[in-house]
Amino acid sequence: MLHRGTMHKLNTGASIPALGFGTWQDKDAQEPAVIAALQAGVRHIDTAAVYGTEPAVGSAIKKSGVPRSELFLVTKIWNNSHAPEDVEAALDASLKNLGTDYVDLWLMHWPSSFASGSSLFPKDSNGKVKAGTSDYVETYKAMEKLYKSGKARAIGVSNFSKAEMERLIKETSVVPAAHQLELHPYLQQHEFAEWHKSQGIHVTQYSPFGNSNEVYSKGQNLSKLIEDPTLVEVGKKYGKSGAQVALAWGIAHGRSVIPKSKTPDRIKQNVEGDFELSAEDIKKVDAIDRKLRFNDPSANFGWNFYQDLEGKEA
Ligand SMILES: NC(=O)c1ccc[n+]([C@@H]2O[C@H](COP(=O)([O-])OP(=O)(O)OC[C@H]3O[C@@H](n4cnc5c(N)ncnc54)[C@H](OP(=O)(O)O)[C@@H]3O)[C@@H](O)[C@H]2O)c1
Repeated sequence: MLHRGTMHKLNTGASIPALGFGTWQDKDAQEPAVIAALQAGVRHIDTAAVYGTEPAVGSAIKKSGVPRSELFLVTKIWNNSHAPEDVEAALDASLKNLGTDYVDLWLMHWPSSFASGSSLFPKDSNGKVKAGTSDYVETYKAMEKLYKSGKARAIGVSNFSKAEMERLIKETSVVPAAHQLELHPYLQQHEFAEWHKSQGIHVTQYSPFGNSNEVYSKGQNLSKLIEDPTLVEVGKKYGKSGAQVALAWGIAHGRSVIPKSKTPDRIKQNVEGDFELSAEDIKKVDAIDRKLRFNDPSANFGWNFYQDLEGKEA
């Protein structure tokens, strides 16, 4: 074991490993990457129907020989399946791709719906994404039924604003077990993170390295988060890299982190990002926030995301 194996608790009573593994992008590299992560001791894998990486995750799990019962598997329902009558078939398709009969956590990827049908990005005659008519509350209520059936051992959301979260909690009966959102040392969202704690909702940090993901055009002219002088300096004391400090900081705050890498050395390095930071060093990282958000597809999805959150540009 290359890491401490830190676990956090969900409001369902289940435990979620603090350190996970992301599988967005580089589809063809994901099977060996997931095998390498599992061999290095990762037990929490994040995928999504829209990533096209569920089959690679499924076959990597099979090839690794790691028993299903040791794993925490997360996937997400895509926007074209939000109509309540489409929800169960979406989960069944994900389960089939993953080669399992349950997921440990099933998330609504975005609050916004697209038109139903087989196209992941249905377009109207102007070439714009065709919005659906389903309200996320109705979609979530359909997800609640699958939670009760056991096919999804926990349900939650991703990319919701605070107002969207509050409305969801008020109008549904299962409090989300987790919210997966963009969070890293350059977008810390202290208040929103604390609010989740007060509601018993676990936070999973996506893009834990911020603008190290090269698709984020906004971050391309900035120096990389993982090269931040404070992260690098803090790391020296522990013999760790800036990337590892960024992960340890999220874990210290009680959150899960799901770094993605297709590179064997980095996969191993990231697994070793589950280590203990001193209170003083946690505070040093708390102080480097820049309220910089890199992932905001509002213009393409026909929905104004994160309206009441930090890092939202006007
Ligand atoms: N819910 C959502 O809407 C949502 C949105 C975004 C992401 N996510 C999830 O979160 C996961 C992680 O986020 P992300 O993929 O955006 O970005 P990330 O994990 O923050 O960064 C990934 C990038 O950093 C590089 N990298 C990884 N480890 C490194 C290291 N130790 N040193 C230097 N560079 C390193 C990777 O390169 P190589 O791969 O080339 O090594 C890759 O380019 C995703 O894969 C996905 O599962 C969810």
